[in-house]
Amino acid sequence: MEGDALAAVIKARRSIRKWQDRPVPEEVLKQAVELATWAPNGGNYQGWRFVAVTNRTVIVRMADAVQAVADTISAWPEGASWPEEVEKARKHSSYFRNAPVCIGVFVSRYLSAADKLLLAREQIDEEARRILSYRRSAPTAIQSAAAAVTTLLLAFQAAGLGAVWLGAPLIAKRELETLLNAPAEASLVCLVAAGYPAESPRRDRRPVEEVLEFIR
Ligand SMILES: Cc1cc2nc3c(=O)[nH]c(=O)nc-3n(C[C@H](O)[C@H](O)[C@H](O)COP(=O)(O)O)c2cc1C
Repeated sequence: MEGDALAAVIKARRSIRKWQDRPVPEEVLKQAVELATWAPNGGNYQGWRFVAVTNRTVIVRMADAVQAVADTISAWPEGASWPEEVEKARKHSSYFRNAPVCIGVFVSRYLSAADKLLLAREQIDEEARRILSYRRSAPTAIQSAAAAVTTLLLAFQAAGLGAVWLGAPLIAKRELETLLNAPAEASLVCLVAAGYPAESPRRDRRPVEEVLEFIR
């Protein structure tokens, strides 16, 4: 792909939250996930797993599970301090029920050589605990999953699909892991809802000068 074509795909991708009532062929999903697996990942351990749900009943159960937790936490008295924000989030929490596809992205634990060393020493060494806290502040496994999800969204965009990265449904992590038959020793990181788009939203970005600094 030419640089310009890559830039076009990157810039055309927007989070899509409305989909056509049209199934996505499994082969299209498989090709996109295959591309996602080319993402960079810690030590090339490839600890990601993807569970693609096209079964309507299961997607509705997933959405119901998320909505139930969203309803519960929205009713907690602490939410009275931000009622509009809480209600907006509650209403917004399970719109993925209308998606033709919902993919659970899982990742297994990753231990680098340094992690193993630090874990072996953490009980007896303050410095090991401090360095371990740095590692835990940005887990390699989560970074790897994020790289795969980004690649997946771009692959969907290139294939004419529209998708959205969903972190909020993790409020129902346990219920979702059960519904998705979570792969052994893998933890749910997020969902990706996808389908053929029924909207084409525009969103801007801050100018690069605002977010980039050079140290020369
Ligand atoms: C880690 C992460 C979690 C996200 N979680 C949600 C979510 O739970 N619900 C949602 O509607 N969008 C979610 N999004 C999508 C963002 O809202 C979206 O990427 C952002 O508003 C920028 O819009 P764009 O993707 O169209 O450029 C998430 C994105 C990321 C990267």
